[in-house]
This record gives sequence, C-alpha cells and structure tokens, in this order.
Amino acid sequence: MDTTMNAAPAYDFTAIDSEIEARVDDLLTRMTLEEKVGQMNQVSPNWDAREELEAAIRSGQVGSVLNVWEVAKINEMQRIAVEESRLGIPLIVGTDVIHGYRTIFPIPLAESCTWDPDLLEQAARAAADEAAAGGTDWIFAPMVDVARDPRWGRIAEGAGEDPFLGRALAVARVRGFQATDLAGGKRIVACPKHYVAYGLAEGGKDYNTVDLSERALRDVYLPPFKAALDAGAGSIMSSFNEIAGVPASANAFILRQILRDEWDWPGVVLSDYDAIGELIQHGVAADHKEAALKAVLAGEDIDMMSQAFPDHLADLVREGKVPEALVDEAVRRVLRLKFMLGIFENPYTDPALQADVLLQPAYRELALRVAQKSAVLLKNEGSLLPLAPETKVALIGPLVDDQPELLGSWACDGKPEEVETVLAGFKALLGPKAALTVVKGCAIEGRDGADDDPELDIEGAVKAARAADVAVLVLGESAMMSGEAHSRAYLGLPGKQQALLEAVVATGKPVVVVVIAGRPLVLGWMAQHVPAILMAWQGGIRSGRAVADILYGEVNPSGRLTASFPRTEGQIPVYYAHKSTGRPVNERGVIQFNRAHKVKYLDESDLPLYGFGYGLTYTTFEYADLAVETPEVPIDGIVTVSVTVRNTGERAGDEVVQLYVQDLIGEVTRPVRELKGFCKISLQPGESRRVTLNVPASELGFHGLAMSYIVEPGEFKIWVGPNAYEGLEGRFVLEA
Ligand code: NOJ
Repeated sequence: MDTTMNAAPAYDFTAIDSEIEARVDDLLTRMTLEEKVGQMNQVSPNWDAREELEAAIRSGQVGSVLNVWEVAKINEMQRIAVEESRLGIPLIVGTDVIHGYRTIFPIPLAESCTWDPDLLEQAARAAADEAAAGGTDWIFAPMVDVARDPRWGRIAEGAGEDPFLGRALAVARVRGFQATDLAGGKRIVACPKHYVAYGLAEGGKDYNTVDLSERALRDVYLPPFKAALDAGAGSIMSSFNEIAGVPASANAFILRQILRDEWDWPGVVLSDYDAIGELIQHGVAADHKEAALKAVLAGEDIDMMSQAFPDHLADLVREGKVPEALVDEAVRRVLRLKFMLGIFENPYTDPALQADVLLQPAYRELALRVAQKSAVLLKNEGSLLPLAPETKVALIGPLVDDQPELLGSWACDGKPEEVETVLAGFKALLGPKAALTVVKGCAIEGRDGADDDPELDIEGAVKAARAADVAVLVLGESAMMSGEAHSRAYLGLPGKQQALLEAVVATGKPVVVVVIAGRPLVLGWMAQHVPAILMAWQGGIRSGRAVADILYGEVNPSGRLTASFPRTEGQIPVYYAHKSTGRPVNERGVIQFNRAHKVKYLDESDLPLYGFGYGLTYTTFEYADLAVETPEVPIDGIVTVSVTVRNTGERAGDEVVQLYVQDLIGEVTRPVRELKGFCKISLQPGESRRVTLNVPASELGFHGLAMSYIVEPGEFKIWVGPNAYEGLEGRFVLEA
C-alpha cells in the first residue's frame, strides 16, 4: 500500500467531553424554544433576500448554511450570528466536497479503483484543507452507498459494489476530512451519506423506491456507515428514499433504533435537501407540520431546506405533540458539534488563506497520482499499449479536448479552465512537436438527441486514422450524464460516438479507446473489436496528463474495477457477491440441473463483461503456493493465508492481491464470494513476494435467522487472486 503519507491524526467527533457537555448544558438553559429550533434549521443563503436572511440569523432562526463559496460572505454571516444574535452561537457551514474542493480529483468511483485507502485519505485531507481555507466546517461526504446498478447516476459518487472495500475507503475518507492539520487551524466534520440503501433505487432511477430485507440492509448497506461512524464521523445525512414503505426522514428504525440504541452514536442526523418536506409527496404526511412531527419523532436533528422545522416545531412542542426533551436532545447534538469544531472560539476564516492553500503544487501532484492510479486498463491485445513516443497518432473523439466534462459531477469550486485535457496531456508529455492529428468527429450527445449532431465529421476522423499509425479515441459521457438525478436506461456510448468508433475501426488501423464516464458503461462491441481500452473515468483536473502517462508507459496502469461492467443493460444488477441459489449456473445436481433450468438468461451470459477486482497492467503477475496457515481456526481467532506473487513480465507494476471467502453452509444463504482482505504491492520485473493476509474470524459473520450478527462454525472456501473470478483456492474450518 502507498504509505508515503505521514497521516495526521483525525478528530474523533464522537468522543464526549465533559467540559463541552457543561457548556452545552449552560447554553440550553438559556435558550428559548425558538432559538433551539433555529439550531435545527439549515438553509442555503438567499443573497437576493439579504435583509431577510440577516434578520433570520440575527434572531437565531438559522443554525447552519450550505454551499456558500465566498469567504467574505461566510464571515459576514458568521459576524451577524456571533455578534448580533442574542446568544452569539456561530453557524456551521456545510459544503458538498465530493472529490476535491478546488483541486478536483477523479470522481469517487474512479478513486475507489486505486484500492488504496492511504492515498484516498491524503486526497480527502487535501480536499478538506482547501475547503477549510474556503470557510467550510462540514463536508457532506463521503458517499458510502453500496451501488450495484450502473444506471443509477450516483454510482459515480461512491466506492462501488462491495461493502468490505466500501468500509475501508469510508474510513480513509472520514479520517482525511477530519484531519487535525487543516488550513487556519480549522476543523472539519465529515457527513457519511445517504443513510441508507439509497443506492438500491428501483430501476436505477434516482430517488426511487427501495425495498430490501433487513438482512441485506444489515449485511450489505449498513457496514460502510458503521465503519465511517466508528472512524469518528460526527454527522450523517439521511437519504431521500423510502425503505420498505418508510421514507428515511421519518424512519425511526434506522434513525433511532440503529443509530442510537444499537450503535450508541452521539452525532448529528441531517436530512437531505427538502427531504422532510418530501414526506408529503411520499404520501406519509398531509402537510409540512405533520412532516416535521414525523421527522423529529423519527430522529432527524436538522432539517436541510424544507422549512418544516422552523415553521412548525415550536408549535408542535407547545401543543404537546413533541416533548421539548426531544428537541433539547437534537439541539445538544448540534451545539456539541459546534463546540467540537472550535467555531465558538474561532468563527472566522482568514480570506488570505486561499491564495496559499488552493491548487498548491503538492495537491496538483496528488491529483495526478490519484488519476494515474484510478484508470483501469480493460483490454490490451497484442500489447498495443504502451505506445512508442514516435508513433503517429490520430486523436479522435468529442472528449479529446473538452475541459468541463473531465471534472465530472459535483465539481465543487473546480474550474474547467484548470483541467488538463487528453490533448493537453499528450502535448505536455510529448512536447509541442508531437506527431498528432486531432479530429473531434462528433459531439458527445448531439443537439436534439442523438440524431442531430452538427459536429458530425466521421469522414474527417476516418481520414485522420488512415494517415496515422494508431487511432486513439477519447469517448464517453458528459459530466452531466451521471451524478444526482442523472440516471440512464441505455449505457452505451451516447450520440454518434458508436458510429464514429465503428468507422474508425473499419479502417483497419490499430485503435485505442480511452473511456471517460461517470459509471460502468456497456462496452460489448468495443470489447470485441477494439484491441486496447483504458477506462479513465472523469479524472479531475489532471485527467489528461494521467491518460498520456499511461498510454505512453510512463506509468504502468494499476486500477482495478470496483463495480461490474455489464454486458447489457438487461443483466443489471450484475455483481460478484451474488447468492448461489438452488440452481446455480455452473453446477450439476438433482433432476433438472442438466437442462436449462438454471439461474441464467437464454440469450446472455450470467457474467459481467469486466468484473469486480479486474484490471490489467503492462506486466503480468502469477500466483503460486497458496498456504492456508490456519486450516482450523477458533471462532474468535484469525484466518491466515499466504501466497507467492511474482511479476512475470518486463515492467515494474502494482498488483492488488485480493482475498475472497465463501461460507459453505449457513443458517441463511451466503454469497458465492465475499471480499475479506486485500493488499496492494509493487513488484519489479522477476521479483516475487510472499504475501500474508489475515482475516479475523469476527469478519466472517452475517445476520442470521434471529437477525443478530453471528459467526458460525463450519467450512469455508477461500481464494486469493487478482479479481473476484480467479484465484488459488483453499479451505479452512471455523471451529466452535
Ligand atoms: C442533495 C444530495 O442528495 C446530497 O448528496 C447533497 O449533499 C445535498 N443535496 C446538498 O447539496
């Protein structure tokens, strides 16, 4: 693993401090009911109604604000809160810092393909440092929603399909955001979101209905949240969706029972944007007053933007429908957070900080490193890549030189003009005299849908390809085709890009495709007809340089997929950790097994095109001599396996050694494989290393018949290998 970082310790916003509690007690006794409710109200400041906003802050009706960029504005609001409100309680400033603040990193899904928690902790810390300089106290991230449906646009924001990897990366990001050495001595609190199961939206449509078993909730969707809170995250954002008929904002099971009673977590619960008001559209509240009632009883502490709390909560208390003690509890959590953040002592942000902190060379360098390690080489037939520097290249496609699209969704304070495109990356690497022809070929999408593309120039692209040694096409999605509220039903190349690709391939010239996208795409034709494919995602401000470094072999690609690439939309959801079922596709068994009566399609494979953990490099690795050091393990013991990994190619490279298990017989069914360990190693050509991986038996449990977490004795299969579908196999037994 990359351990170049001297990790600053992270704040633990869940540690209760008696001095802070005493200060909270003191304030609470002095607050009016309206002032208490004010702490539970978060608004997006409306500068057009400046006087109204200032009056609301002055009278203590606003506790926090979201997404304000200018430090001067933040300081001015803070001044009114601190100097002109009766009790001088400062505001908390929350911001969506999803993959960088000004130095934009690759989208989080891409970052997860690094499988490198240390590196992502550094990236999160850099983002937090810039955010702190911009006046932010509260980062609405990490998004830790497990996502197994690439139609869902928000798959871009998370760590992919696996809860184990999701946990590791959630912890890394919380630690980075809550680092202790941020600009101006400021502190930042993380906000894991969207609690919970938001990624399971039916049909991949954002905000859609979610209905899942409590077992899947507890085994798959909750663990990354639990890990983030255990890492010290001081807040959580509840989601828009319903879960089995109860919208998250009114769901006492998830907000009270799990967070408070089971996990004993003391942090702040924040609703998503207007999600309390949306209880009306969900059809569980008649009006804002009932929405406020349901939300506060369920356990929401802060209402983001719906106005239901500020308009109705005080009345609900006076009418005896909401105990004031419940409001006090919520306000205690908010005030405690404010004290922990240090904003009572240090409410202002020095406007001079940004000049030194934003886009500093070390952060630009870090963004490059993350982009280089995020890209996944999907195919490289005949070692077409890396290219020799003297190769005559035709650079073709709508994303060759497009700055804004490489930022991806949620680009915070990122500026398109600060993005290095692929063309810029090529020029930076090869020098201005590089043998390049550039043809856009078509638009990303076309104007009125795919059929009208005024930029269509397939002929020009074909001509350029014919005159070159190699055609490098840069194809994919625009930034706005993924992210919130941007789901897709078709996951192929949009617009005329497929036609462009087919025409260039038809020239017979060697073709490399660099795919820029916010999600796994359906790439079947490309996988069949194009010899080299690099999945570069939306790689942030250093995207283009990272792509050039990889295509020319300056960097050996090392990314591994964290979300499966379906062969066709009809396979979705396709993910590696599925169940065996009674009629698994690859097994022989009773009566009808040898016929078609299996879990499969008539017309498509059950396997993804590119699966979880997959990714190529410019070298090759061989796995040998798997030893299960502990063939019998006590139920409270540790499983230890070792394996020899050898770099059998001619270049130094990084391998992500992955460990999977299968619990063969359980009291409930278990996935066919589950990731339970991984490590990233660098090997020189010819070098081999004995790698040892440990899995505490406590990691091997699940929620059984009684819905409690159990670790069952019995036999397990174990695999160590390069992805979820390959690897050396062993066995061990957990003993009672
Ligand atoms: C809605 C999104 O779901 C959430 O992720 C975001 O933090 C809030 N809006 C605030 O912008």
